[in-house]
Amino acid sequence: MQYKVVVLSGDGIGPEVMAEALKVLRAVGKKRMLDFDFKEGLIGGIAIDTHDTALPEETLSLCRDSDAVLLGSIGGPKWDSLPPEERPELGGLLAIRKSLKLFANIRPVKIYKEVKDLCPLAPSQVARGIDILTVRELSGGIYFGKPKKVDSHTGMDTMIYSAEEVEKIARVGFEAAMNRRKKLTSVDKANVLHTSILWRRTVEKVAKEYPEVSVNHMYVDNAAMQLILDPSQFDVILTGNLFGDILSDESAALAGSLGMLPSASLGAEINLFEPSGGSAPDIAGKGIANPIAQILSAAMMLEFSFKDLKSANDIYAAVEKVIASGLRTADLAGGKGHAVSTSAMGDAVAAAIS
Ligand code: IPM
Ligand code: MN
Repeated sequence: MQYKVVVLSGDGIGPEVMAEALKVLRAVGKKRMLDFDFKEGLIGGIAIDTHDTALPEETLSLCRDSDAVLLGSIGGPKWDSLPPEERPELGGLLAIRKSLKLFANIRPVKIYKEVKDLCPLAPSQVARGIDILTVRELSGGIYFGKPKKVDSHTGMDTMIYSAEEVEKIARVGFEAAMNRRKKLTSVDKANVLHTSILWRRTVEKVAKEYPEVSVNHMYVDNAAMQLILDPSQFDVILTGNLFGDILSDESAALAGSLGMLPSASLGAEINLFEPSGGSAPDIAGKGIANPIAQILSAAMMLEFSFKDLKSANDIYAAVEKVIASGLRTADLAGGKGHAVSTSAMGDAVAAAIS
């Protein structure tokens, strides 16, 4: 089987962790006889430096012509002073999400038992279990609503959702819940926001198609609190773009390190896979970043885009094995014991595949 994969390493730690993900994919490829055709493209700050735009047209056509996109991370202090629309975030990441119609972002959070001490919650709370899937609407809401502007007097953003957009993301949430513990918490701010009133009505409507899934609605402020008080109550969290951005970082913190968390951004034609964390400019170039989020994002690509659960499970199992063996990058070492480099972690996961 040949898979055409576009590799967009981006900025900061992106290239370092991407190299490890490709190493692991090659190891799985060898074992399962998969033939990956990796094509590199530019996005983010590096694209601004070389092509004067955070998302060159070449990159988009490369993506449209491929089976899946693997993204590292974008942005850094070097480009922060550019006008908002030109920065790596808006001009690169948000632009590629919109252009490729990536409407659903799936962010799983689970705790590996060997590193559960990194979870900031009390051991008794951790013992009840933390296994949460955030399903975040990714190409609408306040991130994209128009008009938006900023001048010296006013800043303005617009939040809009159509019933159609909500329905689409709700279905992704309910389908995910059906494959899990069949519980879905829809998060909104329906006591204040009109978009949320529509959100709640629409989720209620879609829920009728999934009678096996138990549904509850939660205001976002309460959800932020409940995640800390008792994360075991959550299975699938279904929410909009902005709330999903915030809550997925919060749930990520429960896993102890953002460096462990992958994500999948699903579209109608093509999917993109990237770590939940960012470009971490403070540690970029030092060879100490944790590559596991990127490696697991590659596994999600095998699972979601290529429907190859066997190969995906090879990677999930290899990561578990390496964590269980005690190997730790700095973020996981918690100041104790020896921390290994990005490439040593990648080598170990690749070795655990075969
Ligand atoms: C994320 C990131 C992005 C977002 C930023 C970098 C634009 O935080 O993927 O969660 O806000 O969506
Ligand atoms: Mn975020």
